[in-house]
Amino acid sequence: MYVGWTQVASDSELTGEVLPVDIAGRRLVAVYGDSGWVVCDGTCPHRGAHLGYGGRVDGSVVVCPFHGHRVHLGDDRPALFSVTRYSTLHAAGGLFVLLDDACETGLSRRLLALSRTHFVKPAFQRTLSIPAEYVIENVVDADHFAAVHALTRRPRLSVFEDEAGVLRVEGSFEMVRPNKWQVEEGADTTARARFSAEVFSPTVVVSELGSADAPNVVITAATPTAEGGCVARVTVALPRQRASGAPTVRELSSLVSGSRTAFDQDTVIWDHLDTSVTPKYTEGDELVRAYRAFCQRFVSVGR
Ligand code: FES
Ligand SMILES: [Fe+2]
Repeated sequence: MYVGWTQVASDSELTGEVLPVDIAGRRLVAVYGDSGWVVCDGTCPHRGAHLGYGGRVDGSVVVCPFHGHRVHLGDDRPALFSVTRYSTLHAAGGLFVLLDDACETGLSRRLLALSRTHFVKPAFQRTLSIPAEYVIENVVDADHFAAVHALTRRPRLSVFEDEAGVLRVEGSFEMVRPNKWQVEEGADTTARARFSAEVFSPTVVVSELGSADAPNVVITAATPTAEGGCVARVTVALPRQRASGAPTVRELSSLVSGSRTAFDQDTVIWDHLDTSVTPKYTEGDELVRAYRAFCQRFVSVGR
């Protein structure tokens, strides 16, 4: 399984104070305590109950639903019973956990900054039968945009890994304007939009479309399930300040519906994908290969 940043819930799912969380079959619990939400191992060390099903918060501990022992969140001080607490981020409309601090790539900084400059709105979520990687690699899969999303030209995208360990994709989408006949002879009929994507882990990508100082932003996260599929969550964000003024509710809902339409188009492919095929990559698959190689650094052996 992957131990980099993973989204475990959207804000609307954060009801109550103790929630079970599952990442690829790993039993975790999200707890709303004195310092906000924290994600911890979910199994009670006494005799194995799941703290997420019936546990209750009492100060800085969770009281186990089975025999009522008090279980400390974190092993920073001596206690008869404690569970490991992980780096947790509650920002940009979602709850995220980092299972291994060695895989930190700066998601906290990025999302906290985004919340300051943008209106952020969790848009939708889907349970899918394909592994999470297919959802994230889709964002950087240059060759699929024309075929699946009817873009008139293949985007030009390049990829590199920055010093923080983020896989960065940069380039532009080009669209031939459909009303060519209304444009003067020799005029540029191509519309270009800057595109960038930051892959923070195998399961979280933040993509931007539009000018670098006020882009539209989409956060795509896919949480692996115990069954080998994933739960995909899409969050959108619009800049608070732009030359054209603050964004309207209408613009926000059009970004949500545009993202949902694109996701629906991908889902038709995903629902019928044979993931057992060994890929025969072409030159056009360079970014997908870079993403797949990037994922290997986040694999935890034996958990
Ligand atoms: S299993 Fe948790 S108190 Fe016994
Ligand atoms: Fe797509």
